[in-house]
Amino acid sequence: MRGARVAPFWPRPLPRLRLLLLSPLLFALFPPTRPQGSPAPLQCYGVGPLGNLNCSWEPLGDLGAPSTLHLQSQKYHSNKTQTVAVPAGQSWVAIPRERLTVFDKLLVWGTKAGQPLWPPVFVNLETRMKPNTPQLGPDVDFSEDDPLEATIHWAPPTWPSHKVMICEFYYRRCQEVTWTPLESEVKTMPLAPVEVQDLELATAYEARGRCRMENEEDLWGEWSPILSFQTPPSAPKDVWVSGNLCGTRGGQEPLLLWKAPGPCVQVSYRVWFGAGEQEVSPEGVVPCCNLSIPTWAEWARVSAINATSWDPLTNLSLVCLAPGSGPHGVEVSGIAGGTEMLVTWQQGPGESQEHVVDWARDGDPLEEFNWIRLPPGNLSVVLPGNFEAGVPYRITVTAVSAWGLAPAPPVWGFREELAPLAGPALWRLQDVPPGTPAIAWGEVPRHQLRGHLTHYTLCAQSGTRPAACKDVSGSIRNVTLPDLHWGPCELWVMASTMAGQGPPGPSLRLHLPDNTLRWKVLPGVLFLWGLLLIGCGLGLATPGRCRHLWHKVLPLWVWEKVPDPARSNSGQPHMEEVPQAQPIGDLPILEVEEMEPPPVSEPSQASTLLDSGYEKHFLPTPEELGLLGPPRPQVLA
Ligand SMILES: *[C@@H]1O[C@H](CO)[C@@H](O)[C@H](O)[C@H]1NC(C)=O
Ligand SMILES: *[C@@H]1O[C@H](CO)[C@@H](O)[C@H](O)[C@H]1NC(C)=O
Ligand SMILES: *[C@@H]1O[C@H](CO)[C@@H](O)[C@H](O)[C@H]1NC(C)=O
Ligand SMILES: *[C@@H]1O[C@H](CO)[C@@H](O)[C@H](O)[C@H]1NC(C)=O
Ligand SMILES: *[C@@H]1O[C@H](CO)[C@@H](O)[C@H](O)[C@H]1NC(C)=O
Ligand SMILES: *[C@@H]1O[C@H](CO)[C@@H](O)[C@H](O)[C@H]1NC(C)=O
Ligand SMILES: *[C@@H]1O[C@H](CO)[C@@H](O)[C@H](O)[C@H]1NC(C)=O
Repeated sequence: MRGARVAPFWPRPLPRLRLLLLSPLLFALFPPTRPQGSPAPLQCYGVGPLGNLNCSWEPLGDLGAPSTLHLQSQKYHSNKTQTVAVPAGQSWVAIPRERLTVFDKLLVWGTKAGQPLWPPVFVNLETRMKPNTPQLGPDVDFSEDDPLEATIHWAPPTWPSHKVMICEFYYRRCQEVTWTPLESEVKTMPLAPVEVQDLELATAYEARGRCRMENEEDLWGEWSPILSFQTPPSAPKDVWVSGNLCGTRGGQEPLLLWKAPGPCVQVSYRVWFGAGEQEVSPEGVVPCCNLSIPTWAEWARVSAINATSWDPLTNLSLVCLAPGSGPHGVEVSGIAGGTEMLVTWQQGPGESQEHVVDWARDGDPLEEFNWIRLPPGNLSVVLPGNFEAGVPYRITVTAVSAWGLAPAPPVWGFREELAPLAGPALWRLQDVPPGTPAIAWGEVPRHQLRGHLTHYTLCAQSGTRPAACKDVSGSIRNVTLPDLHWGPCELWVMASTMAGQGPPGPSLRLHLPDNTLRWKVLPGVLFLWGLLLIGCGLGLATPGRCRHLWHKVLPLWVWEKVPDPARSNSGQPHMEEVPQAQPIGDLPILEVEEMEPPPVSEPSQASTLLDSGYEKHFLPTPEELGLLGPPRPQVLA
């Protein structure tokens, strides 16, 4: 903006004091009360239409306040000095106009207990006045073309009238803090209007001014009241769509959005939607700054009501171009030491286009949706804002052209990845193969993951053994566990991001039955069985009853395990289903289901298998036990 030079409000250098008539003695008495260049401790000026002289001073610190002010006439009553008593605790005194002579020139100084406190100050009563404030507005005219200029009408201070004054003016946008000076100071004679150049449309501004006597460069009057004015409305320059216009519709209805004008401005809009030749303006006047998009619309146009004639409409094509025609390779990163995010991407095929980057915090309502528009050729942008570490932001880069919109697939971006806050929950799947436990786990919710998943870590702890962990690819969410030890076992999974590993998720406890235990009790069982056999052999029971008795005495699993001559056809498929005894520390057997007793083999078969090596391996034969006799028909029953 022209004239945007900011004038610092440092006091101007003091005019040289014309201490012509000051006695050398006075100088000698002055203590060095203030450093070079600081404002005069004493200021005197005429105030208001009565023209009283107000002399005021800064508090003097150690020196204390003056008790008396001395005013020595220089022009009309040479060396005539008046004294004015200073009320205690007051840092100013007003000397009535009647005690002074019009156009006189004075030397003024203060004393305390007869000691002067400052060098005398020269006061020209003719010019040393603080004028009233100028009056700005209320009329402001705007130019009819671009760039926009405003002409502010104003009235000079009412006092002192008939004197030439210099006025200066400042302006700023509504709610800004810093005032911008207008380049040139303006004289009150002849009175010229105040011009403000290079203004923006649909923007609220404030202006103020102050005046001084032409020759008194350091004595400005007070600031005028602030004049507020608003430039003519204009169509929004940046219209965009929220929601996933080009993706799967559903969920949130896409909205046409545009940026609200600056603070303190109210603008009403008109919106048109169109497809081909069809054109509809759905709602007459639209307040700020969104409207839902009809599904049939191929373009939208927005204008401001009461906009200037030269302000163009804003056009946005709503056609979604073929997937793949948009930008690709979208990458998001934080900026060292900043809270912004850097987004970079590669241009899609075709010529260079405008891009829009939009972003929203995960789970935020649509109102928090933001976007930024980049000129053609800009393939990166620093998203402004206070992005939180560990929070996912959904970022979409879209190429925008007159033909339509070509978005890149949205990405989740992080300013800074953090380690996950939670681990995945685990559950058990059906054993595959039977006897080998299988487990699966869920995804960690995005807001708890706090980064991009790199891998999972699966840990298992059996009994008092130390936990054993291994990393699992992030794409895997179920595994089988063939190597677990029998007994109680605890499993858990941790998720990792680039920033580190998260805590374990809820653990899963398994109890893996110990198959080996069964074989430890076997000798006892065998002994029992031997006794039974002996009993049977001695003919105490019929063979059929004997077998019936086994069923009662022995647990089912043992009964199954006990090699039954009739069942010792090891080559038969049904034998393979029965879990086999394992050496300690070998494959775990989880929940071995109690098997149905295998179908009893045909008697003819069994007799031929009676003396198979299988049986011998486990059990003493009746012969070995000293029980002679023919093949036992009882097992054939
Ligand atoms: C004189 O000036 C001082 C300091 O600016 C101010 O506080 C005081 O009100 C003024 N007195 C009169 C009568 O204007
Ligand atoms: C005023 O005082 C100065 C020095 O104190 C002296 O030189 C001068 O003559 C005096 N003027 C008159 C008119 O008394
Ligand atoms: C448009 O301008 C007319 C005339 O200046 C005014 O009456 C009307 O209120 C304005 N409309 C809006 C929406 O600002
Ligand atoms: C706005 O877009 C429509 C459809 O693409 C087009 O027909 C029209 O000319 C455009 N208007 C402007 C002002 O760009
Ligand atoms: C849409 O505009 C209405 C006011 O007209 C506003 O209350 C609402 O927050 C806006 N919605 C979005 C998503 O900006
Ligand atoms: C566009 O790119 C140019 C050059 O790379 C850069 O100076 C400018 O700041 C970029 N504009 C935006 C809005 O990022
Ligand atoms: C296990 O994960 C694979 C992919 O890794 C999946 O295809 C399969 O359905 C999952 N199995 C179960 C039982 O969840």
